[in-house]
Amino acid sequence: MSRKVALITGASAGLGVEFAEQFAKDGHDVILVARGVAKLEALAAKLAQAHGVKAHVLPADLGQPSAPEQLFARVQELGLAVDFLVNNAGFGSSGAFLDQDLGREAEMVEVNCTALLKLSYLFARPMRERKQGRILNIASTAGFQPGPYMATYYATKAFVLSFTEALAFELEGTGVTVTCHCPGATKTEFTARAGNAESRLFKRSGVAEAPEVAGHAYSAMMKGQVVAVHGVLNRLAAFSLRFSPRAAVRFVTARLNQQA
Ligand SMILES: NC(=O)c1ccc[n+]([C@@H]2O[C@H](COP(=O)([O-])OP(=O)(O)OC[C@H]3O[C@@H](n4cnc5c(N)ncnc54)[C@H](OP(=O)(O)O)[C@@H]3O)[C@@H](O)[C@H]2O)c1
Repeated sequence: MSRKVALITGASAGLGVEFAEQFAKDGHDVILVARGVAKLEALAAKLAQAHGVKAHVLPADLGQPSAPEQLFARVQELGLAVDFLVNNAGFGSSGAFLDQDLGREAEMVEVNCTALLKLSYLFARPMRERKQGRILNIASTAGFQPGPYMATYYATKAFVLSFTEALAFELEGTGVTVTCHCPGATKTEFTARAGNAESRLFKRSGVAEAPEVAGHAYSAMMKGQVVAVHGVLNRLAAFSLRFSPRAAVRFVTARLNQQA
């Protein structure tokens, strides 16, 4: 495979680290984006040494409205053409919506939705001009249903799913593919940040390993799949939701998001 450039947001932890490893292993240069500079620099050094690729560190707080445009400008200044964009940065919160910090809920929409939308726009336009490129947007199985006690998070992921499918359709035949990947519960730093490690969803067995989930997403993107759900049970659940009464879906999801 010829050497290309992949930009990965949320590359300082969890799935993002795995994506960076995967691209580097396949001989691609990487642009690592997140707030945690020390972690990004350590990863960049490791990838450069292990795989002989160039690993650029571009720190950004995607909760800041101007961050996507600044990031795009920085990439242009470096003279880099991005072949793969992975919109992976994201976080959640748990508990009743009215008991959350409003600023943090709004920041979640900024990071999970607005930054993803802006980066898709900014990087897909040059991809369309070059008639090649792949975008991977990380949603969640949460995107298929409303999620009481994680209301904002589930809604952000429904946005990612809907937006990505539509964009994929619009870009058909242009040489640019857009993939929405939906992981189920996965072992990363997500629960520590969201505060839902004790929820029924994460306490049950079958929480997936990050390398396995990232590998599945990576391969779906390389195949140009529009929507990919990780895990047979998650796929069954996402499918069955189409035929389930909404009241039952809300009830079951609320229970999963609460502690036993
Ligand atoms: N783990 C799961 O169970 C699960 C399930 C379904 C979907 N997902 C999705 O998978 C994606 C990756 O999450 P993960 O599980 O790997 O979680 P994680 O281990 O907590 O990693 C989240 C990444 O997002 C970055 N991030 C958070 N806020 C940011 C901000 N304001 N600006 C820039 N970067 C920011 C973090 O970097 P810094 O803190 O250094 O900025 C970190 O690198 C997310 O979109 C998440 O919603 C996760």
